[in-house]
Amino acid sequence: MTIEQLKSQICAHLADKTAAVFTGAQLPPKQELEKTLLSALEYPPDPSMGDIAVPCFRLSKTLRMGPPQIAAKLGEGLSDELQYISKADIAGGYLNLTIAPEFYSSALLPEILSKGERWGGSDDGDGKTAVIDYSSPNVCKPFHIGHLGTTVIGHSLKLLLQFTGWKVIGINYLGDWGTQFGKMIVAYNKWGDKEMVENGGVDSLVSLYVMFHNEAAIHPELEDEARAEFHKLEQGDERNHELWKWFLDISIAEYKKTYRLLDIDFDSWLGESFYTDKMPAQVEKLREKGLLKIDNGASIVDLSEYKMPPCLILKSDGSTLYPTRDIAAAVYRQQTYHFDKALYVTSAGQSLHFAQWFKVVELMGYDWYDKLIHVPYGTISVNGSKLATRTGNVVLLRDLFAEAIERVDAIIEEKNPDIENRKAAAEAVGVGAVIFHYLWNSRIKDSNFVMEDALSFDGATGPYVQYTYARTASILAKAGEDAEKEYQPSGYIPNEHEIDLAHQLGLFPERVKAAIDGLEPSVIAHYSYDLATAFNRFYQSTRILSAESDEAKAFRLALTKAAGTTLRSALRLICLKTPEKI
Ligand code: ARG
Repeated sequence: MTIEQLKSQICAHLADKTAAVFTGAQLPPKQELEKTLLSALEYPPDPSMGDIAVPCFRLSKTLRMGPPQIAAKLGEGLSDELQYISKADIAGGYLNLTIAPEFYSSALLPEILSKGERWGGSDDGDGKTAVIDYSSPNVCKPFHIGHLGTTVIGHSLKLLLQFTGWKVIGINYLGDWGTQFGKMIVAYNKWGDKEMVENGGVDSLVSLYVMFHNEAAIHPELEDEARAEFHKLEQGDERNHELWKWFLDISIAEYKKTYRLLDIDFDSWLGESFYTDKMPAQVEKLREKGLLKIDNGASIVDLSEYKMPPCLILKSDGSTLYPTRDIAAAVYRQQTYHFDKALYVTSAGQSLHFAQWFKVVELMGYDWYDKLIHVPYGTISVNGSKLATRTGNVVLLRDLFAEAIERVDAIIEEKNPDIENRKAAAEAVGVGAVIFHYLWNSRIKDSNFVMEDALSFDGATGPYVQYTYARTASILAKAGEDAEKEYQPSGYIPNEHEIDLAHQLGLFPERVKAAIDGLEPSVIAHYSYDLATAFNRFYQSTRILSAESDEAKAFRLALTKAAGTTLRSALRLICLKTPEKI
């Protein structure tokens, strides 16, 4: 039995009891009452107050009675009436319930073990499809730490939705079209050559891009040249098209190295360029609907009624813009995938852009407009300083991960030089440290990246939780066959630390739901830390392999196994690997 099932059982009983005790009252139908109670349940802030709190304020108006009196009446005899509830205390307007230790050993743990890797998941999303647009770097510009957010938040949301039954299409909407290519072509023609780009790869493209900006600051006419080259590209000029494709291939090969490190794969790589021939139909539709207005030669959709600046559809020279492409892409994705949800993970700086074109899609009469969801995140600085792309003052994602891996490798070399797969372990922990440190913050908050903090083996860090996982693996390996035996509930009564750990394990499904409801991977980062901490407290206070009885040992090994599996699942959901040895 899960904690959620236990809660439902409690609320069903309390709804019945309310009707039986408060006979004269005008009560809502039983099911409704049950639902109200269920949504009101809380976890007391301090475990000494009990495990589940029923706030009785909710009933006070209907029953015309003070919450403490209601709590007293409902609490009377409750521990005898309800299985697995050992105590019901009244505290102010709350009825605080304590879950009996047997619940954890006889009901919850068998349930968790039988679900195994599926524990925490569900089939809530069965039959539904989500598309997630994430990572989506702009080709020829550096793939830098600013992209960490979209990449790992997006991928984590994909894994979370899949875990709850959704079909998910991950889309890397590459910024592979636009005037930056005109700039690149000008820069390449002026200062680059084949050999330089072939040897230098994406770095040489980025330096050409940076060089262009430095030069254009002094010679603004370069901007006109760039526009002209891009125009030629749009008109299908063969040489420019070849250069474009070449730049694109070099960039994608580079991105793939980072994605491989993160174990990220996309279902679609269709970037902005794919939509060039799909925009005219949408522009036509906007025109037919009378939504286009000419403003200084440009075509716009006026959104003043919605308190937003106009959405730009065509420039005065007829060329399309970022919103135009997004509209065409959304229509294409709806037609291709029939999505029930389309998420766009980008920095909060783009919030207005999304609000504008979502509104335009609504005005165009597409009935799926309300399935479009922008998922914004805050800015990231490194050691307290902000970064600027144009001056080349950036921390590349590739370099950030490489540094983390190298430093972890040095730590492992010092502490545990002989472990097998050292390289893989250093990679998993180095990359994991960066991701965990980043995902720890709620996504909308601006964050600051500090390598030392990320790499610490103490506190709320990736290395700490991964190390805890490795600890569970090592205990199970030492236990050998004993760890393989199927767990049979016995009369064993768990101690306080065991109960805390089992309770944490029981919370996983609720945390997964909360993460999805808030589109917030940080919920899972916090959860895995809470779980790791509960495990370590159990480990430090309780003998596992040399337990005092066979029953105790069987229970503790089962608990260790459940903790390991759940920790691995939780970490997987936030893109962290779990080496067996560190
Ligand atoms: N390429 C854009 C950028 O780096 C992000 C694209 C986000 N997705 C979208 N459908 N607009 O800023």
